Amino acid sequence: MTALPCFLEADLRGKMVLVRMDHNVVKNGKIKDTMRIDATIPTLLHIYKKGGMPILMTHIGRPYDKKTGTINISEGESVAPVVKYLEEKLQLKGIIPECIASGPEGITDLSPILPAVQKLRAGEVDFVYLPNTRWFKGEEAKDESADILAQSWASFADLYINDAFGSWQAHASTYNITKFLPSYAGLLMIKEVQNLEKVFNPQRPLLSVVAGAKFDTKMGPLSALLKLSDKLVLGGVLYNGYLAAKYRVNIKGLSPEDLQLAEQFLQEAEKFPDKIVEMPFIIECDSMEDVSNGRIRKVTDLQAGMDLNYILDIAPESFSDPSIQEVFSSAATIFVNAVMGYTVLFKEGTKALYSLIHSCSQAQKLFGGGDTIQEFGDLLPGIFAQAKNDPHYYFFTGGGAVLDAIAQGSPYGMKPVQALLQKIEK
Ligand code: 3PG
Ligand code: MG
Repeated sequence: MTALPCFLEADLRGKMVLVRMDHNVVKNGKIKDTMRIDATIPTLLHIYKKGGMPILMTHIGRPYDKKTGTINISEGESVAPVVKYLEEKLQLKGIIPECIASGPEGITDLSPILPAVQKLRAGEVDFVYLPNTRWFKGEEAKDESADILAQSWASFADLYINDAFGSWQAHASTYNITKFLPSYAGLLMIKEVQNLEKVFNPQRPLLSVVAGAKFDTKMGPLSALLKLSDKLVLGGVLYNGYLAAKYRVNIKGLSPEDLQLAEQFLQEAEKFPDKIVEMPFIIECDSMEDVSNGRIRKVTDLQAGMDLNYILDIAPESFSDPSIQEVFSSAATIFVNAVMGYTVLFKEGTKALYSLIHSCSQAQKLFGGGDTIQEFGDLLPGIFAQAKNDPHYYFFTGGGAVLDAIAQGSPYGMKPVQALLQKIEK
């Protein structure tokens, strides 16, 4: 059960339905992975079944340059490949309105949307797909232009569905829009939020595995996970920072900012003794480019004042250590947002981690994050194919989204989700 209002409860007959998807899967004009598109197809089919006419939208990439405040429109970030994929997969016909940007501020003239919507109403096309939402002036704005854009989009539709779980940021298309249309969650959004409940109310023990290239964006979720989890495994720069802070060693490449945050984190972690499970073996290298010179270092050998070179992976030996295997095999729930090694050169730590997790056949395994899931598919294609059909696994379509909800302390914590909830409370 979920508190979110679902569009299946709404009357869609003859209505224009504006649907925010997270089809942010295009890079340089090519689709990287169709998982996020495929995951939204049930919502699309049910819109048709209920007699609605869909106007779809998504963001792609990050065309908005925060420093200059300008929007860079490039064909490589167009929604066209997504439209083509949907047309071929579902045998439907779509249309992209030809909105032209007026300059570096992005698209301000929305009038080309009208003829496209008329074609949809007349049955000449099956769906409209708006240009990349981040090409429009106001999508990421903090001022009134976000409302102005949302209201203009809303003028083409009768109701709004948010099925963009991965798009956790509060933007015009995910947040402001709910002020102007009756708003509902899509089927993917509901499924993802239900699975987030498994992180917040887990079968215990809950083991979380988190890695990252930087501390700053991970601090909020990391402290929340420390409280929520029974055991926590760290990788990447998060583990390097933790080791440097705890054992007072110097690790090459670790920035002073990361070290400072790691020290803060260590103070919090010390309130929960034994929660952090230290990976006993790490890989040290003299350079970040050459894998051949990697050697194993033992964490138990670390002594205050030692100088370490680059630490670029968790050694796979860590995951065959009996005490580590015991932690994994006794977990009832395993949450993973982690690529362990310095990508793309160091794959062995991640491979060993995912293989060990796979061997925990009875545990509920929750994977969050585009990179995490992509690595899984690339490194262990056979296991990944099995995992996709195994009810003990769940793959979230958004990693930032999962971490944001965790940091907010609720499956309903993300701002766009809050906006859907407040809608029914009114
Ligand atoms: C993602 O791919 O992480 C989501 O689509 C969110 O994109 P964003 O981080 O650019 O908001
Ligand atoms: Mg992201």
